[in-house]
Amino acid sequence: MSGAAQVVLEARELGKAYALPGGIVVPALNGVSFAVRRGEFVSIMGQSGSGKSTLLHVLGCLHQRSSGHYFLDGVDVSDLDDEALSRLRNEKIGFVFQKFNLLSQEDTLENVALPLVYARVPRAERLQLARAVLERVGLGDRTHHKPTELSGGQSQRVAIARALVTEPAIILADEPTGNLDSRTGDEIMGVFQALHRQGRTIVQVTHDREKAEYSQRIIHLKDGLIEREETIETPRQAGVVALT
Ligand SMILES: Nc1ncnc2c1ncn2[C@@H]1O[C@H](COP(=O)(O)OP(=O)(O)O)[C@@H](O)[C@H]1O
Ligand SMILES: [Mg+2]
Repeated sequence: MSGAAQVVLEARELGKAYALPGGIVVPALNGVSFAVRRGEFVSIMGQSGSGKSTLLHVLGCLHQRSSGHYFLDGVDVSDLDDEALSRLRNEKIGFVFQKFNLLSQEDTLENVALPLVYARVPRAERLQLARAVLERVGLGDRTHHKPTELSGGQSQRVAIARALVTEPAIILADEPTGNLDSRTGDEIMGVFQALHRQGRTIVQVTHDREKAEYSQRIIHLKDGLIEREETIETPRQAGVVALT
């Protein structure tokens, strides 16, 4: 494989500013450059307000950048309109959020199958794929539970299954353990490590140093800029999570 093909995402001098009413402009990213290779597990750290969520939203095609360039899986995202952006997002990105963002009226199976609706996969196939991916994260026996009937850790596993169901090029997670107790958070890191071992590319945002040490590399953000990068030579190991 060539070097270029191994790069899943590349940010070049990415800038993002929010425009507020009254002509006020809030700078959030001020020229961020880095690349993530296929199969890497990377963490983005930084204090509150340093631009972590903004960066993840630009990487995830939820927001368009204000300046610079962004390449996702070989596609120059920089000048895509909203429609093309959401198509690309659906195809290439799996999102995991701090608050799980599950539909409370729908059961586990329907929640996981949802991204496949946008991908226009027929219903029977959607449910079959959702069931398979739920089994992979250890929730094969919870397909008909509603979100209120699940623990926090189970809810986040459902959200991870939902992120995986489209077989995205990359999984982006914004504070995925932020709503979990420390032991359950470690369990979720175990799920990410197991996915990483299977060759998945994962970028997580966290302000928790311990959680960042489960990954291979930490990008430290400060005031919308990369302050430094750090390689974790021996990542922290979560208790083994078996994924089928
Ligand atoms: N929707 C928004 N409108 C205006 N300013 C925003 C918006 N979202 C974030 N910001 C500002 O951008 C900066 C970076 O925010 P954010 O990316 O949320 O940081 P973090 O996730 O590291 O806490 C902060 O100054 C924040 O106030
Ligand atoms: Mg944030």
